[in-house]
Amino acid sequence: MELQKAFAEINLSALSHNLEVVRRKTGDNNILAVVKADAYGHGAVEISKHLIKKGISKLGVAFTEEAIELRESGITTPILIFFDRDNIDACFTYNLTPVVFDFSAAKKFSAEACRRKRKIAIHIKVDTGMGRLGFDAGKARTEIPEIAALENIEPEGLMSHFSEADLHDKDFAIRQIKAFVSLAKDLKQKKIHFKYLHMANSAAVLSLPDAHFNMVRPGIMLYGCGFPGVKGLKPVLSLKSKIIYLKKAPPGAPISYGRTFITERKSTIATVPVGYADGYSRKLSNCGEALINGKRAPVAGRVCMDTIMLDVTDIPDVNYKSEVVLIGKQGKESITAGDIADKIGTIPYEVLTSVGQRIKRIYK
Ligand SMILES: Cc1ncc(COP(=O)(O)O)c(C=O)c1O
Repeated sequence: MELQKAFAEINLSALSHNLEVVRRKTGDNNILAVVKADAYGHGAVEISKHLIKKGISKLGVAFTEEAIELRESGITTPILIFFDRDNIDACFTYNLTPVVFDFSAAKKFSAEACRRKRKIAIHIKVDTGMGRLGFDAGKARTEIPEIAALENIEPEGLMSHFSEADLHDKDFAIRQIKAFVSLAKDLKQKKIHFKYLHMANSAAVLSLPDAHFNMVRPGIMLYGCGFPGVKGLKPVLSLKSKIIYLKKAPPGAPISYGRTFITERKSTIATVPVGYADGYSRKLSNCGEALINGKRAPVAGRVCMDTIMLDVTDIPDVNYKSEVVLIGKQGKESITAGDIADKIGTIPYEVLTSVGQRIKRIYK
């Protein structure tokens, strides 16, 4: 069946390029690729398989269900689960590595490991300033040795997460690194060794070499989104569509819900099958743009659930075969997830992870 709607083109060579950027920054460090939230909207299974082929060491997801999807697709690479505490059984059944952020979960993993007469590797999360999850960096000096002493628990990794490594002012991030290093040193003195120490998200990969340790956890940069001043990453996802209806409208014609756009001149209006249900935010009403024939076409009126209307009056030769680019490049023009994020007051992470389930991902 011909594609009727919008679709996402996923450029795997851009993904490889971005992984090389991580490597250039971190040497032959271990790379844990963050593929949670369906690989930031890019499709976790395909993205993970590609990154594994390119030599990453581990994968990271938020929830156990996400890890199970990867296992069921045949992926055997170690997978860390960042934000779950209850799916103890699944971690054993699917050979997953839990991130442990409190003592009661650690005890449950130990009890189940003993029952199954096997060990389980865990990564222990310490809160150095993010304030989200983990052992308080101070109390961790007594609590982590207690975890390490639990039967059949193998404390493989010690990790923490930055709250603002992306800021120009690195003071707080440096404080977080110092707290982490000091804890790791104290634990080493207590004979608790971790095979992996890791803290670095993309921002820290790019700008905080002291946080690279022997493993890094990039997410957004793999998908080609940088931070102010960062060049050299290639966007992986393009969101494209086509025109399903093209009409001439006289001056004074209302377009879309609420008549917030009224044509001021004889206009050509194109209806495109993508809407807020596909992650094309309603906040782009009357301010979004798409690329057609290498030119920018403004969104006319409100974004609907399944469609938008574009004012293509100033673009010559628009027809039903014209490609519509909502995110991506066309000719000399481009619209990035970051551009959209800036327009609607959010971050590229949200723009990318919002690309809906109806949107078919096509891998190139
Ligand atoms: C625990 C953890 N590590 C690493 C990352 C990757 O962060 P980024 O996408 O900013 O590289 C995330 C993402 O939010 C995370 O939650």
